[in-house]
Amino acid sequence: MLNIVLFGPPGAGKGTQAQRMMDATGLPQVSTGDMLRAAVKAQTEVGLEAKKYMDAGALVPDEVIIDLIKDRMKEDDAKNGVMFDGFPRTVPQAEALSEIVNVSIVLAIDVPDERIVERICGRFSCGNCGVVFHDQFNPLPANGCACGSFMEKRRADDTEETVVARLKAYHQQTAPLAEFYQKKGLFSLVDGDRDIDLITTDLLAAIN
Ligand code: AP5
Repeated sequence: MLNIVLFGPPGAGKGTQAQRMMDATGLPQVSTGDMLRAAVKAQTEVGLEAKKYMDAGALVPDEVIIDLIKDRMKEDDAKNGVMFDGFPRTVPQAEALSEIVNVSIVLAIDVPDERIVERICGRFSCGNCGVVFHDQFNPLPANGCACGSFMEKRRADDTEETVVARLKAYHQQTAPLAEFYQKKGLFSLVDGDRDIDLITTDLLAAIN
């Protein structure tokens, strides 16, 4: 069983790399951000609670996130391992995760803060298949999205003001997790300020 944690600041490329690594690893992507956005859209109790934090660029309370993960890990496709994207994001979340599964490796995508705003503010995705693009760095191919039914989607929290708050939350609450996993010998750092393909190659090499 292989349980991978993709770690890094907002906009580092965790989602982009998870999508590329799904075929190579056979593991599903478990993105707490995607799960929360689905809950907001469905206007569930969790979604209504989470929305006020997400809109402000703050972290959703740990207990909400841990319950989501406990339920997700009971699903059939998680039995051979998963790729966590955007989870855990606090030490209490990491401690709770260690009671649910053994983490095999933490792949940290290192990107300097000054790159983050341009990455997040140029992001869009296909509302049909979920593939992530960028206005400048990863544009939609001339022949359209591979799914054949492209629908442009932009995230409500991808604004310059919210990015500043998200980066602050990352440095205060999430970055300390690096030391948590370094002490366990599970932390592997990859330079994320390079071409997307080169990063995928390095991440796959770190797993192998
Ligand atoms: P979440 O959805 O997890 O957002 P995030 O961590 O802020 O990360 P992003 O999805 O913004 O970035 P990414 O690293 O996946 O980058 P991407 O691949 O898209 O969380 C949203 C909110 O939900 C949080 O603020 C919080 O409120 C809440 N939340 C979620 N999980 C939580 C948790 N565990 N605990 C508490 N609260 C939680 O890439 C970004 C852009 O850059 C794209 O356009 C892409 O095409 C481009 N790009 C990617 N790689 C490169 C490259 N190498 N070079 C140039 N451009 C690139």
